[in-house]
Amino acid sequence: MQEQNTTRHTIVNSWNEWDPLKHVIVGRADGTMVQAPEPAIERNWPDHGFPLGTYGPLPKEMEAKANEQLDNFAKLLESRGIRVDRPTPLEFNQEVQTPDWEQKSMFGCMPPRDVLLTVGNEIIEATMSQRARWYEYLCYRPLLEQYFKEDPNFRWEAAPKPRLSDDTYKKDYWREWEKKSKEEKEKAIYERDWVLTEKEPCFDAADIGRAGKDLFVYHSSVTNRAGIDWLRRHFPNYRLHPVWFYEDNPIHIDATFVVLRPGLALSNRKRKPLTPGLLEFFKKNDWEVVECAKPFLDNYPPLSFCSPWLSMNTLMLDPKTICADAQEKDQMEQFDKLGFEVIPVEFADVSAFGGGLHCATADVYREGSCEDYFPHQMEGF
Ligand code: NVA
Repeated sequence: MQEQNTTRHTIVNSWNEWDPLKHVIVGRADGTMVQAPEPAIERNWPDHGFPLGTYGPLPKEMEAKANEQLDNFAKLLESRGIRVDRPTPLEFNQEVQTPDWEQKSMFGCMPPRDVLLTVGNEIIEATMSQRARWYEYLCYRPLLEQYFKEDPNFRWEAAPKPRLSDDTYKKDYWREWEKKSKEEKEKAIYERDWVLTEKEPCFDAADIGRAGKDLFVYHSSVTNRAGIDWLRRHFPNYRLHPVWFYEDNPIHIDATFVVLRPGLALSNRKRKPLTPGLLEFFKKNDWEVVECAKPFLDNYPPLSFCSPWLSMNTLMLDPKTICADAQEKDQMEQFDKLGFEVIPVEFADVSAFGGGLHCATADVYREGSCEDYFPHQMEGF
């Protein structure tokens, strides 16, 4: 009898960003690190105790505040009848290695969205493209093992683990970036000349926006063309649209271009779409693309690699209900005018741990099925 009970209570199913949410993973801040330098990324925060080359855990008082906000968010979701699971943190301050490299520290497990891509009854562990994040999937294994036991239809996948050897990265990318003039940086943006080479497929799950049959994939500094190609081959029955925007060193689609509900997308007012045909494609399918409101912050918060545009980083509970960062008054007002019920969530202290409300979550179950929201496809997009 016990067996029957457990086989019933997990279903992996989520096709988009807005269907009614019933089961979600919410990350934890425990032990999150300012990552040790590696070819993919270097932190340089001398004013806050982490000059170039240094690394270490984020301050414990920051961690406590972030965890309080994450726990409160989890409780809020539960109070609305949504099942919430949490990852199992590792000792992120440990040195890790593979036969190809050694890395002085890991990162954390606040943003499950970066690692887990749910498409229908499938969850894919993304390749990730930073050495510090190579093992992050292990934080989610206890949950994925449980879902695998409980849901006989759950398809559990892992994208090929990348080697992340020196050949995966352009040599001295960040040193060269620092030396670039404004014009050269501009050129890099238009050419999408980011740190990854095309040696092997790399992608973060948070670079993908899901809208039923259509998946929008950000060609970013953590997702290369080979990664997009891997996803395209993995999802032959979907329409995969590579997208890019005016942003230097872009990471993750969910503070840049967000599909909110059928017929409505939110676009970053500063990071303009550079993808030929993107706006026409949405228009052709009767989608409105609105520019987001002005964010609350002017700049990156201390020790955070996330920009003020986390203002756009929201979690839809259903097509009418949106969780937004409580400090983003202008953004919440815009959502209100767009007809959403807005749930303000105190979340500002989570930023340094790797993101906002969308980053901090990964879908397990939303009601609904795979729909075609873009019946008018366009050649070349
Ligand atoms: N790299 C993005 C964060 C995405 C959640 C930004 O800082 O805007």
